[in-house]
Amino acid sequence: MRRINIPVIVVLLALTAMQVSAQKVTKASSTVKMDAFINALIKKMTLEEKIGQLNLLTSDMAVTGPVMRKGYMEDIKAGRCGNIFNAFTPDYVRKLQQVAVDSTRLHIPLMFGFDVIHGHKTIFPVPLAMASTWDTAAIEYAARLSADEASADGLDWVYSPMVDIARDPRWGRVVEGAGEDPFLGSAIARAYVHGYQGTNLDTDSTVMACVKHFALYGAVEAGREYNAVDMGPRRMFQFYLPTYKAAIDAGAGSVMTSFNTINGVPATADKWLLTDLLRKKWGFKGFVVTDYGSMAELIPHGVAADKAQAANLAMHAGVDMDMMGMAYSGTLKELVKEGKVSIAEIDNAVRHVLEAKYKLGLFKNPYLRMNDDRAKEEIMSPDKLVFARKIARESIVLLKNDHDLLPLKKTGTIAVIGPLADDQRDMIGPWSGAGDWHKAVSILQGIKSAAGNQAVILYSKGANITEDTSMLRQLNSNGGDIVPSDKSPDELIKEAVETANKADVVVMCLGESQGMTGEAASRADIRIPACQRRLLRAVYKTKKPVVLVLSNGRPLVLTWENEHIHSILETWFLGTEAGNAIADILFGEYDPSGKITMSFPYAVGQIPVYYNELNTGRPRNPMQKYTSKYLDIPNAPVYPFGYGLSYTHFTFSNLTLDKNIMRPETPLHISVTLTNDGNDAGSETAQLYIRDMVASVAQPVKELKGFQKVFLKKGESKTLHFTLTANDLKFYDQQGKWVYEPGAFKVFVGGNSRDVLERDFRLEK
Ligand code: NOJ
Repeated sequence: MRRINIPVIVVLLALTAMQVSAQKVTKASSTVKMDAFINALIKKMTLEEKIGQLNLLTSDMAVTGPVMRKGYMEDIKAGRCGNIFNAFTPDYVRKLQQVAVDSTRLHIPLMFGFDVIHGHKTIFPVPLAMASTWDTAAIEYAARLSADEASADGLDWVYSPMVDIARDPRWGRVVEGAGEDPFLGSAIARAYVHGYQGTNLDTDSTVMACVKHFALYGAVEAGREYNAVDMGPRRMFQFYLPTYKAAIDAGAGSVMTSFNTINGVPATADKWLLTDLLRKKWGFKGFVVTDYGSMAELIPHGVAADKAQAANLAMHAGVDMDMMGMAYSGTLKELVKEGKVSIAEIDNAVRHVLEAKYKLGLFKNPYLRMNDDRAKEEIMSPDKLVFARKIARESIVLLKNDHDLLPLKKTGTIAVIGPLADDQRDMIGPWSGAGDWHKAVSILQGIKSAAGNQAVILYSKGANITEDTSMLRQLNSNGGDIVPSDKSPDELIKEAVETANKADVVVMCLGESQGMTGEAASRADIRIPACQRRLLRAVYKTKKPVVLVLSNGRPLVLTWENEHIHSILETWFLGTEAGNAIADILFGEYDPSGKITMSFPYAVGQIPVYYNELNTGRPRNPMQKYTSKYLDIPNAPVYPFGYGLSYTHFTFSNLTLDKNIMRPETPLHISVTLTNDGNDAGSETAQLYIRDMVASVAQPVKELKGFQKVFLKKGESKTLHFTLTANDLKFYDQQGKWVYEPGAFKVFVGGNSRDVLERDFRLEK
């Protein structure tokens, strides 16, 4: 080992300390400069100009909500609108910016926002799919590439990450988040923020993140969109709030309020949430924007009689910017006149908005992110497509693979059947705002180009995505794209069965259309739609080996499929490179390594089902009547949190703790051996869970506290190390404090939340 002598270390440490303190000084002096600039600007502003900065309007380029605003150009010109969303491309955005900068009295630049959720033009897998990679470096890189593209296309601000913890797959928006776990969700939230914002927002390739939807939107009752949330403080703080806090601690510049009420108070009017918690307790320094129209929705919520009262409530609660509510713009002046809102309150909100523009470098150069050359270079550049395929492969979860049916060989005849096989539109998912689905690779295309002339590929549609006329009507009236076949369901099935009979193996491409998930897409029955299930059963009866390739945006109820179908691949909506990535996995070019981050329920009646549940006073015992269980189904989901198979096989052994008694000041070191004892190279995600056995407040049966994704060659073994500190053992107690309590704990390690090794230890003071 090379020796470094002590004086060198001392010099290095001193230099680092000097650098850190120099950075602090620069940061402090740049804050002083920013404050001086903004104070001077606010002094010059009229009340109307101030209100304009608090107004966010959509352009008519894309629409992401119910109400269209006409005449936004006039509003920009008159200084009544300081921020625009749903506008992109350098040309278009430049035109709007010119109006703001040239025609308004103070030349304050516009800030441009957009829903860049999983890529801008190059579409990466939907967020729930990316979460299944458990690869935070890859997710951060996806956000970095999204920022490169979005900023090159004129955007300053992206409405991501969505960090709502969700335990109810009926809710269509689970597709936008990272699933049910706060520990993993927090790591992913940080990754997005770092990826978008980098270390400096003031560059032509970084964009400001917007954490949404604050708060608890993922807990809407019965999974029904825009519904109410009722939740006690412990569940809130221990499970649902940590992801927002993680994103804010990572430096996210803005926060979007959620549509729901929390214990009766709409989030957009919740002073406790937006001021006491977010600003005072968590120290948030950025700005708060409403969701689309949610300030005006305080009226139907029944807490405001009109827009004036809505604006008054929102301003006092701590909302800085009104997205499409037209409540601030229409009423704030009058509210000031009446003495209901003070100029100081307005200045405070304006300051938050102007600071964001300042940090984004817009006062130095309003056209910073409008560069045609960068747009040409960045948008859908080859490196992005390569990465899109890589992260899409990593997002795929192998749910079942009996008799090693997968990977497929490139020989013989392969029948590709199902409504999602020859389908580009659905591959890019429901929230791919600027994405062009014509550029997406369908599953059929991917399989054909991978097989080349080595195998014969047959295709049959077999079914429409759905025959449910009410659903079809709604999907198509929302700009959907389900074009039902001219043939009857029976004819389609007959053709598919004939095709299957000609093949050696059948790849069934079933699931949901993109419009069945995302915003305003709750479903009460989350099985594969009925007409597709009929098709699957008919093909299953041919006795041909069947691989089920699922495209969908939520955990589905797959109880029948799990019992009958040999191999099941969950591919979500994988984005631009979907078909290629799926073919890579089907033919074994890559080993599947994804792990689900939401439990897949046994039946809808089991929802919410999640791994970090409480034990109850009467844990399930099928032989005893008075225990916590169902008569007709198990308590456990079909596939548990963290679950996913591989073509190779991994074994965990030798789970060892370095001590049986842990003291708060000394971390516990845990090691485990992971062996690839299968026949291929592959990656496994080792997951570490704990359980606090006796505490003043009942604790979950398992809680994720660490994970590592490791690549191992065939036959390779590796010792993995984890560390737990007393901080990891903390929970939210009855007094609302984060505490650890001495006593018995368990630690578990495994490849999913169900199949684990376990050891005991005690925490003693
Ligand atoms: C409503 C959605 O809830 C939110 O996620 C989105 O960012 C806004 N619309 C803007 O499109």
